[in-house]
Amino acid sequence: MSIEKFEPESCAADGRLHFAVTERNRGPILEVLKKVLAPGLVVEVASGTGQHAVHFASALPEQIWQPSDLDPAMRSSIAAWRKHAGLGNLLEPLTLDAETTWQLDTAPVALVAINLIHIAPWSVCCGLMQNAGRLLAAGSQVVLYGPYRRDGQHTAPSNSEFDAMLKAKNPAWGVRDLEAVTAEAAGQGLAPKEVVEMPANNLTLVFQKASIPC
Ligand SMILES: C[S@@+](CC[C@H](N)C(=O)[O-])C[C@H]1O[C@@H](n2cnc3c(N)ncnc32)[C@H](O)[C@@H]1O
Repeated sequence: MSIEKFEPESCAADGRLHFAVTERNRGPILEVLKKVLAPGLVVEVASGTGQHAVHFASALPEQIWQPSDLDPAMRSSIAAWRKHAGLGNLLEPLTLDAETTWQLDTAPVALVAINLIHIAPWSVCCGLMQNAGRLLAAGSQVVLYGPYRRDGQHTAPSNSEFDAMLKAKNPAWGVRDLEAVTAEAAGQGLAPKEVVEMPANNLTLVFQKASIPC
């Protein structure tokens, strides 16, 4: 698929890109990850700059953190952050397109995607869930973070404005319905496990691969 570019707020001399929003949400997301992740390989889809990958790998030594992104500029930034941090549990970024089928050498305990599915066509959410359904063992998880509509309504005026802004930029983008994401997950054998309210009217959704089809 074609990719849209996200403009970073700043860039270090060594190529590390920086999103301010990523700096702000990393703490609350980490608190959820600490509670829900089992030790093992975590594949982060659409890692962006690599700021999250470094923060999470540093704080979660029982995880092997596998960052990835479709955009080569983001993968370069992830590699620069990785070099800067020197963490043994943070792997080189992979080229993963959430929308297409990919293979992994090791089964992950979780797929994590932060601020992806509303800034991409719906087919990206579907592809992500299909990959999760195929790759995850029973008990493994999908963790999504972002804004969602609930019961067909935005949860805050700011999310409604954000949705309009996204759709003006790309009509295929937009804040997703929690129920539609949950249905897509269920179709791939992933049962809803937790919905965590996050700062700034965001949610973290945790889905778990069921041992029998859900
Ligand atoms: C808004 S940024 C979020 C980045 C990071 N997760 C964060 O929260 O800082 C969205 C990211 O999704 C990536 N992306 C867009 N479509 C993708 C796809 N189909 N597969 C993988 N990554 C994708 C973009 O390159 C970009 O890095």
